[in-house]
Parts: sequence; C-alpha cells; structure tokens
Amino acid sequence: MMDIDKEPKIKAPLSEDDRKKAFIEKLVRDATCAEDLFATRAEAHWLDEPDFQNAYAAAENISVWGSKIRWRVYTLVKSAQAAARLNGNFVECGANRGGTAMAVLTYVSPAAFDNRKFFLFDTFNGLVEEQLSEAERKLKHDNMLYPPVVEIVRQTFAPYNFVSIVQGAVPESLIHYDGQPVAYLHIDMNVVLPEVAALRFFWPLLLPGAPVIFDDYGFPRHSAQRIALDELAKELGTQIMMLPTGQGLLWKMD
Ligand SMILES: C[S@@+](CC[C@H](N)C(=O)[O-])C[C@H]1O[C@@H](n2cnc3c(N)ncnc32)[C@H](O)[C@@H]1O
Repeated sequence: MMDIDKEPKIKAPLSEDDRKKAFIEKLVRDATCAEDLFATRAEAHWLDEPDFQNAYAAAENISVWGSKIRWRVYTLVKSAQAAARLNGNFVECGANRGGTAMAVLTYVSPAAFDNRKFFLFDTFNGLVEEQLSEAERKLKHDNMLYPPVVEIVRQTFAPYNFVSIVQGAVPESLIHYDGQPVAYLHIDMNVVLPEVAALRFFWPLLLPGAPVIFDDYGFPRHSAQRIALDELAKELGTQIMMLPTGQGLLWKMD
C-alpha cells in the first residue's frame, strides 16, 4: 500500500480568475518593460543599448509626453533604420514638438539624411475643429489640447537643414510636399479624417519596402481610426498589423 504522504498530489485546476491573477503577478514581478499600453517579460535587450538610450533621451528632452513610451519609440527607430536603406524621404504627419522625429533622426544618424529630407507636417497648433467627429470632439476636450509650438519646433530642428517643417492642416498642407518617393511614413494625428487622407496621399509615393506606422491604431479610444484605416488598407489591397504597443504597422510591398 502506498504511503499516503508519498501519494502524488494532484493540483486542483485554477479557476480562470486565479489563473489570470497568477499570470499578472508573474508578469508584474518579472516585467522587463511595463508602461504605456502593455507589460512584457520579453527580453528587451535594446533598453540598455546606448544608441537607443541616446535617441530616446533626445526625444524625451524636447517632448512633454508625460509617460514612458519606449516600446513605441523602439518600433519607430527600428522601422526607420530599415527604411534608411531606401532612397526616399522620411515623413511624419503629426509631429507636435518633434519628439518621435527626433528619436528617429538621432537613431539613424543625421548622415543618413545627406540625400533625403525629413518632412514634419503639423498645424503646430492642435487639432482642426472642423475635421472632428462628435466623439473626437469629446476626446479633444478631455485630453487632446495642444498649445502652439511652431517656434519651438523651428528652433529645435534649426541645426538640421534636411528637416522641412510644414505648418498647416493635413490634407491641405500636403501640397507643400516635394513629390519625391517616401521611404518612411509615421502618422500620428489622433483624428480619422487627416490620417486617412495622409495614407491615401502618400500611398502612391511609398517605395516598396517602406514602413508606415500609425501611432493610435490600436488605442481603445481611437477605434474609429482603426476601422477607417483598415477600410482604406483593404481598398489599397493591403492590411495593417496591430502591435502590442497599440501602433499599427504596414509595409508597402510593391
Ligand atoms: C499626438 S500629437 C503628435 C505627437 C508627436 N508624434 C510626438 O512625437 O510627440 C498629435 C499632433 O497632430 C496634430 N494634428 C492633428 N490634426 C492635424 C491635422 N489635420 N493636420 C496637421 N496636424 C494635425 C496636432 O497638432 C498634434 O501636434
């Protein structure tokens, strides 16, 4: 007869709630990165890399983000690094103070812009009231008020003559684009109408292999953007992949 103490102990299966709790406890205990929209135990080796740290510090230094967004910035700088192999301009629609653009140009290095421009489109004065849906108007009044920053941005980027600052509302301001092929496109305007218009405008100019990153794509309060951008992607014969950061990523294939 088996000694009762030596009998194998069969664990009762965890309830869904307990399983979730145990998972979250382990995640919080072992997280390498827990900020912005997600936490992860993935080995985020790049958090300690000086090149990433310099790029992030340069961006943070000129921004008022209010919280850490390192994985989002990592997505941008690595996409930009790949894009720098293509012969085309870099473009950001929704630059605000220039934080994410600064991270990108620091990471890929100013030398990568010897034969290309980096276009920064923004009103530099916040959202455009007439472009907002009812829901977007409410969001704006809750937390999306942007003070005028164009003079600060001009000063920030004065040392970089390859940066073209275009003040005005997208899509009207896109007539100031120089028409050259695009290697990298970052869209971060928090509003459906100009985001969709920007993708439609730049689509034929995007080089094969060029990444397009949508900052707000997976954010719970911006589902209208995801739906509208997905519709346009479908019309263009492509699709957008959602990242755990909330960003949407699309690679132009041909
Ligand atoms: C979330 S911020 C961009 C953040 C920026 N990428 C950074 O690195 O901090 C959104 C920006 O979109 C701009 N914006 C919103 N609607 C716009 C439009 N129709 N045309 C141009 N800029 C617009 C706002 O002025 C604001 O600066």
